[in-house]
Amino acid sequence: MTEDLINKKDIYFPSYLGTNENLITLVNRATKILCDWFSKADKYGPLPFDENFKCLMPDEEGNSTEDLFHEIQSLLKNSFNPVHPGSLAHLDPPPLIFSILGDLIAAGLNNNLLAYELSPSVTLLEESLCKWFAKKIGFNDSSGGIAASGGTLSNLNALIAARHNSGLGSDPNSALLVSEDAHSSFVKCIRVMGLDTTNLVRIKTDNQGRMDINDLRKSLDKCTLENKKIFAIVATLGTTVRGAIDPIKEISEICKERNIWLHIDGSIGGIFAVTSIPIKGLNNINQANSITINPQKIIGITKTSSLLLVSNMSTLENTFNTGLPYISSKKNIINRGEIGIQGSRPAEVIKLWLGLRFLGLNGIENILKSSIKRKDFFIKNISKNKFDIFSGPLHIVSFIPKKLKSEDSDTWTQTKVNELINNNFMLSRPKFKGRYFLRVVMGNYNTKESHIEELLRLLDN
Ligand SMILES: Cc1ncc(COP(=O)(O)O)c(C=O)c1O
Repeated sequence: MTEDLINKKDIYFPSYLGTNENLITLVNRATKILCDWFSKADKYGPLPFDENFKCLMPDEEGNSTEDLFHEIQSLLKNSFNPVHPGSLAHLDPPPLIFSILGDLIAAGLNNNLLAYELSPSVTLLEESLCKWFAKKIGFNDSSGGIAASGGTLSNLNALIAARHNSGLGSDPNSALLVSEDAHSSFVKCIRVMGLDTTNLVRIKTDNQGRMDINDLRKSLDKCTLENKKIFAIVATLGTTVRGAIDPIKEISEICKERNIWLHIDGSIGGIFAVTSIPIKGLNNINQANSITINPQKIIGITKTSSLLLVSNMSTLENTFNTGLPYISSKKNIINRGEIGIQGSRPAEVIKLWLGLRFLGLNGIENILKSSIKRKDFFIKNISKNKFDIFSGPLHIVSFIPKKLKSEDSDTWTQTKVNELINNNFMLSRPKFKGRYFLRVVMGNYNTKESHIEELLRLLDN
């Protein structure tokens, strides 16, 4: 253990007196280390990892600040680097600078979104921002929403509300319909909701990866025969493997006909709806009862940042309200621990709010448009003779060599992923309909056309 320049007891907590010089020094130093890591991304690549990395645990005396900064450096050196222009594997873009600041402020505030009395300004901020999003996508005055730690939880909040509001709260025959390309987290949702996995009914997709409406109608009839009672249909706005958008208009009409809750999983594509970027299939989303939007996945709001928007706030209140007996309430203000699954919750909304305030609508549009532009450039230049390409209107492309046998896709993609990472490109290899693909996600603002050209050269070898 090295000697410390700062007396440890002076930095247990911020002081309520004086200038907190120690904290300022420490934050400056941490910022410097972080910025060095950003600027050396090229040197270490998108996924540096040394097998000898040590996870040191707390000891008797605690460690010096010097030791800790050393360990922070080692942690960073062995971390996935989303800032690297070759980081194209997942929906994890570089962090927006104002979001990084938002995280710092949220940590320092240490307010709690459980209740208004523990987070007065932030409670109002979250409520207003959810309402702003809800209005932007075309919901009316009864709408609103709640933030949650990721798309899985936002979807779960929606499905629990859907089941509760349909009166099927404890019915073991209640069922959920999703497309076969919907995200795997719906399997988790069904399990968490205490239902058998056969109650998750998968609807076929067409050759563009969109829910097949004929199959949806057939499945609805089959569910009736099997006494399955449907509490929601999920339309995916941006599937994980190819960025397809389910036919929202047709699905919403079926939901209206049969009085079924429509949830849109817009974890990937929902954010496009606040802009005027023309995306095929992105209309009628205000016909839904609920929609998940994950600003963490494209525009760089730091994780986690996800919102569930609902057309009618009372559906969340009916579902999650418990009376919260140990917390005071204020007239006309909802304690936000009472409208979702999570109780104590950090002020994640600050980084979203700061990020959006900084970007403005033009900035958001610029980031999203640039993702589509990179995707278009990639598709335009990838060899169509060599690869089968699967992509929808968003910024995700999966591809595989033509005529590659399913059983060979595992080895081919694994070999290719390794070869690419050795050349500083990180792609993913999703397993989809029985075979492996390579996938690029073009949400990295630092990736230039020259990088994409280099990637295409490596793929061509
Ligand atoms: C379409 C879709 N829905 C939901 C999720 C789950 O989101 P999260 O990882 O934020 O829980 C993902 C994750 O990639 C996704 O692609």
